[in-house]
Amino acid sequence: MKTLKQFIFIVSILILANSCKENNDEKPSTVIALKEAYNENFYIGTALSENQILEKDSLVTALISKEFNSITSENIMKSMFIHPTKDAFDFKLTDKYIAFGKKHDMFIHGHTLIWHSQLAPWFSEIKDSTEMALATENHIKTIVSRYKGKINSWDVVNEALNEDGTLRKTAFLDALGEGYLALVFKWASEADSNTDLYYNDYNMTDVAKRKGAIRLVKKLQEKGIKIDGVGMQGHWHIDSPSIEEIEESILDYASLGVKVAITELDINLLPSPWDLVGADVNQNFEGSEKMNPYPKSLPDSIQTKLANRYQDIFKLFLKHQDKISRVTFWGVNDGQSWLNDWPIEGRTNYPLLFDREFKPKQAYDSIISLKK
Ligand code: XIL
Repeated sequence: MKTLKQFIFIVSILILANSCKENNDEKPSTVIALKEAYNENFYIGTALSENQILEKDSLVTALISKEFNSITSENIMKSMFIHPTKDAFDFKLTDKYIAFGKKHDMFIHGHTLIWHSQLAPWFSEIKDSTEMALATENHIKTIVSRYKGKINSWDVVNEALNEDGTLRKTAFLDALGEGYLALVFKWASEADSNTDLYYNDYNMTDVAKRKGAIRLVKKLQEKGIKIDGVGMQGHWHIDSPSIEEIEESILDYASLGVKVAITELDINLLPSPWDLVGADVNQNFEGSEKMNPYPKSLPDSIQTKLANRYQDIFKLFLKHQDKISRVTFWGVNDGQSWLNDWPIEGRTNYPLLFDREFKPKQAYDSIISLKK
């Protein structure tokens, strides 16, 4: 009798152990994290919202530290928040952001020093070039030196180019002229000569803009100004840009002798108002079913399409890993993405690797599977 009981007990343990093993086999995505999978290739980053920096949700914090080894602040370091009035800086949140990165042993990126958007309003009131030079130097040097040795790389300038590759009209260009780019990079390097300095922009795969970005980098290099990298914001779509265009761009930027970072990766699955022939972009699309086709959930076929697109992109990144320093997603999960509200408010988008419940999507597995 005793032996039969023992036999049943042993068999049950074996069945249990086997079923655990099977479960693990079914969920490869929980076995390995993104940052481990790509550890030898490049940093895997994410953009943090204010709530994430403040660690409001411990499960989300755990996910971030498990999956990512680099962070970018999504908003809090933009000039309107960090330098709201000419005489006052607000470092509270950025200090917390740095502490978060340090605690989780992450590569910390600073976004962004000079940008025309989310610009502190007082900047645009300055018209005099000497006043602008003094204010901008103070802005850059105060922030960069405060975080000297703590911020590993900076977007010194964000989105300075028009689509045709010419310089965008901004408060900085107006007051300081074309030479402002050399000045701001110089000031950043004077404040911290060991941090990596980047130029960051979107549509960096488009030919005219790419040429503009290359001109911009070359001009700095000819003047002997420190620039370490080009950031390609990866705000891409399900079908564009093509893998060939992304590849050519990575190669073009790398040939300048600078690092290439993919800085704001997300794949937009919703129709763009700009693609509608004759559409007035100022038209109000809110509530339009055509422009918000998946309000409840994403069809399986599109989920697979997204997974394939991410896999193709990461295959390319791996091919050029020697040129790529960091790949950063623009947010942790779909619910957080700015693409739910831009360029049309109140839509339901699915551009990232984790769903609204923070569960890994098929796209996550497709990226992990490249490294198995
Ligand atoms: C976006 C943020 O994600 C939004 O929360 C904010 O309302 C607007 O800015 N290019 C950039 C980022 O460099 O800073 C932008 O981030 C997205 C486009």
